[in-house]
Amino acid sequence: MKESAVSDHTSGNGFKRDARLSYNAGEGSRESDQECVGVGGMRNKRDVWTIATQPYKGAHFAVFPEEIPRTCIKAGTSEKGVCPTCGAFWARKKETWASSCACAINPVPCIVLDPFAGSGTTLAVAKSLGRDYLGLELNTEYKSLIEERIRPAQEYQQQKAGFDAMLALSEEA
Ligand SMILES: C[S@@+](CC[C@H](N)C(=O)[O-])C[C@H]1O[C@@H](n2cnc3c(N)ncnc32)[C@H](O)[C@@H]1O
Ligand SMILES: [Zn+2]
Repeated sequence: MKESAVSDHTSGNGFKRDARLSYNAGEGSRESDQECVGVGGMRNKRDVWTIATQPYKGAHFAVFPEEIPRTCIKAGTSEKGVCPTCGAFWARKKETWASSCACAINPVPCIVLDPFAGSGTTLAVAKSLGRDYLGLELNTEYKSLIEERIRPAQEYQQQKAGFDAMLALSEEA
């Protein structure tokens, strides 16, 4: 079975993938999946992800494993952030980061939206990855679950910010 890159699919978002990242007819097939390598010798994730379940002790009926939002957030947002004026993402260029716009303004963290927050898995993972988050949840009983899940990620990011600031000062000295 031949398979085209997800982003080139007629039902896709129209984003034209760099040819080096594509996995189109002629380049490979499911049968030769192992031979398909992308940038840096790493394969892109395919249309089936094998992700282990993860236990959760809180009172929510449908919590998913953190690996699901982690994969999506890392694939869909920039670690460095976006331009606060036009929303253009920052991208890694060799050893450093560069803006993809001409606004010449420092980036702000990407915002991850979860319209069905549930216990807050996506929001907690977003925070742990240094992204901002916006969650909507119909059931107010889940508010405390969400806060409880986000707290450790928030504390981690605060400690990391303090450590980064100290490191920057010591490098300046
Ligand atoms: C499948 S759960 C999400 C679980 C979440 N991914 C997690 O790991 O905890 C879906 C959630 O969407 C909420 N929900 C359903 N309809 C909604 C709506 N219209 N607006 C906001 N939240 C809604 C439900 O209360 C439920 O908590
Ligand atoms: Zn911009």
